[in-house]
Amino acid sequence: MSDPIWAYVQGGAGDESTVRENIASFRHWRLRPRPLTGIDAVDLRTQLLGQTVASPVYICPMAYQGLLHPDAEAATARAAASTGALALYSTLSTLSLEDIAAAAPACRRWFQLYLQPEFSESQRLVQRAERAGYSALVLTVDAPVLGPRDRQTHDGVAIRSPVPIGNGPDVVPPARAPEFTDGRYRFPSDANVTWDVLERLRRTTALPIVVKGVLTVEDGLRAVELGARAVILSNHGGRQLDGAVTGLDALPDVVRAVGSRAEVYVDGGVRRGRDVLVALALGAKGVGLGRPVLWALAAGGEAGVRRLVQLLGTELAVSMMLAGRRDLREIDPSLVVRRAG
Ligand SMILES: Cc1cc2nc3c(=O)[nH]c(=O)nc-3n(C[C@H](O)[C@H](O)[C@H](O)COP(=O)(O)O)c2cc1C
Repeated sequence: MSDPIWAYVQGGAGDESTVRENIASFRHWRLRPRPLTGIDAVDLRTQLLGQTVASPVYICPMAYQGLLHPDAEAATARAAASTGALALYSTLSTLSLEDIAAAAPACRRWFQLYLQPEFSESQRLVQRAERAGYSALVLTVDAPVLGPRDRQTHDGVAIRSPVPIGNGPDVVPPARAPEFTDGRYRFPSDANVTWDVLERLRRTTALPIVVKGVLTVEDGLRAVELGARAVILSNHGGRQLDGAVTGLDALPDVVRAVGSRAEVYVDGGVRRGRDVLVALALGAKGVGLGRPVLWALAAGGEAGVRRLVQLLGTELAVSMMLAGRRDLREIDPSLVVRRAG
């Protein structure tokens, strides 16, 4: 990876304190293993929104995968198909959403929407995704404007300007910095979105809607009351609001508040099988993997991502075996204890 691309992938907002905290928050929990349980096999299979997947670990939506490997999203989709993992694809994919589907028809895939300045353009994207066999719509709500990505700025990156967007010339990324006029910082009007948009999207599509970027009980409840079938607790890999709480921190309370009515997923800082186990114990139904997928993609394309998914699956299975849990139903909060201090 070239330095500018590394900065794009690794970088977060501001001081990157949230990037670091995402990783650290998993270390706040210790596991309470139960030995002598006679386990001879571990089953990682589960259902996410009623769809059977090989593992609760899914691939997060991440833009511009063509920066990492010439096969771009086709590589991650084929790796997901061959491992039975779910993969989420960004509005800002390098390949078009139809080409991703054609590259790996067997890949279970959901479409991640960045709202477009015109709602009709968002509608068109959603309808295309529905036609191309994406089985859920993931609305990202934490990026009405891009967070201040200092590392990218310091490393002098405009990676390639403009980075091609496979979904068409009319599709745009979140707005950049505000303009200072008349004593106020003014954001582009399309950044100015409210919760009604969920209702509008529900009228647009029959696909189940997932809201990505929730970090509070209040918003978890709001999303579910407005019909979301799942929420993803995420701070966007620390790339948006530096200092935001982590998805893992929010998990127990959000699960308590909405877990009986909707599925709750978490992402940010997941690097090891044990991290996945902690998230599952705290009530996550799905666990998203971000940057490691891009590292694997850069290192080895489809084979690299497949290897990553397999490594993580094996780690999770061994962790479960050692913890005395043979399947996901046996994982509950009694498996973890919060470290003092
Ligand atoms: C390079 C990069 C691009 C991303 N692009 C998107 C995107 O297009 N849409 C989105 O909802 N989230 C995007 N994210 C956030 C991820 O979906 C996910 O929330 C985050 O990366 C998880 O944290 P982790 O990288 O620590 O695993 C991106 C993250 C990275 C690192």
